Amino acid sequence: MDHFLYRDGVLHAEDVPLPEIAAAVGTPFYCYSTATLTRHFGLFEEALKGLDHLVCFAVKSNSNQAILKLLGEMGAGMDVVSLGEYRRARAAGVPGERIVFSGVGKTREEMRAALEGGIRQFNVESEPEMAALNEVALSMGTVAPITVRVNPDVDAMTHEKISTGRKENKFGIPIGRAPEVYAEAAKMAGLKVVGIDVHIGSQLTDLAPYEAAYTLVADLTRQLRAEGHEITRLDLGGGLGIPYERSNAAPPLPLDYGDVVRRTVGDLGCEIEIEPGRLISGNAGILVSKVIWVKAGEGRDFLILDSAMNDLIRPSMYGAWHDIVPVVEPAAGAETHPYDIVGPVCESGDTFAKQRPMPPVGEGDLVAFRSAGAYGAVMASEYNTRPLIPEVLVKDDHFAVIRSRPTFDDIIARDTIPGWL
Ligand code: LLP
Repeated sequence: MDHFLYRDGVLHAEDVPLPEIAAAVGTPFYCYSTATLTRHFGLFEEALKGLDHLVCFAVKSNSNQAILKLLGEMGAGMDVVSLGEYRRARAAGVPGERIVFSGVGKTREEMRAALEGGIRQFNVESEPEMAALNEVALSMGTVAPITVRVNPDVDAMTHEKISTGRKENKFGIPIGRAPEVYAEAAKMAGLKVVGIDVHIGSQLTDLAPYEAAYTLVADLTRQLRAEGHEITRLDLGGGLGIPYERSNAAPPLPLDYGDVVRRTVGDLGCEIEIEPGRLISGNAGILVSKVIWVKAGEGRDFLILDSAMNDLIRPSMYGAWHDIVPVVEPAAGAETHPYDIVGPVCESGDTFAKQRPMPPVGEGDLVAFRSAGAYGAVMASEYNTRPLIPEVLVKDDHFAVIRSRPTFDDIIARDTIPGWL
């Protein structure tokens, strides 16, 4: 459930009509709902109630500091994958002891900065990384808390580009080698093993892969404990999917996911961390765009929008579906017409939807892409020298620009032309 609903014939974000925001900031823009973010974070809190736990928001899904602050103030931890994300989380007021550092390519510089600034744990993904972290910690006279990310070789049954828990993926160490790697870690004075980490993929719409992976993690916990390791924390990753296409069956709810957690690892006495991104931010955001032209082509018509693949790359990159709806509510029973919905970028891949039935829309009309709050703004680029689009946060009947649109001058001033040219 989200808070983008038609009211008096116009799509609203909470109590604000979207045309009002469009008039203030121009199009295209991202718009987020505070109530939806709050609600979705609360669903995970509810799902893990009674377990010692920390919900670490996956910053990669939406890294705007206003959103990090909102979630941080509700008690969220953060899952970061770069020093940039770490710095954002800290700038938004999240303490280091609530930040976990994931990712296959952490550099020594990133390790040092996180140890200096304070960190809950590193989720170590390889032996070279482990050795480097040990060295960095020793050189600083400190000890780095770690989990090792294990790769359980479980098929998450999601898009291949966002599946991470198969043995052919670059993530984690094979679960069968974990005892050996934990034994190595135990010998390193700069590391303190605190637990195990696993993340099998994103946009999962079935709980069975979680059940399989977490069962393996539970077995591993018992084995490692028997071998003398102190396993007090399990980071179970993120990945729970959201309903992109409203006509499809709804994916499992956080409460159902919570049951899987309880059933598989609930009796181990471990502190549970999870790293959801999309389920918290995805349906809490939309992308609002304007129709520039309606173009009649050979055998097909095009809706040419003022947003493009550089603003929202998911359709081009993963063939992802986003519901696209007119901001002015169509009349009940209005006839639809199929359009290829495209952006102005000079590539045929700049296509949001093919032959999508749309109610009557024309030049200058506003449309909204639903479920665009996760992996939307964060994956945007300035391709074709199109400025990054603004982000707006709504709460009840008011809104604020939480990232403004750069001017062309801002963009152009970033290049420097050497004196010898
Ligand atoms: N933890 C780790 C270690 C991850 O790699 C990810 C996502 C998450 C948590 C959060 O997953 P979520 O709950 O958001 O599914 N750009 C793609 C998604 C990439 C996901 C990468 N890792 C998309 O637009 O679908």
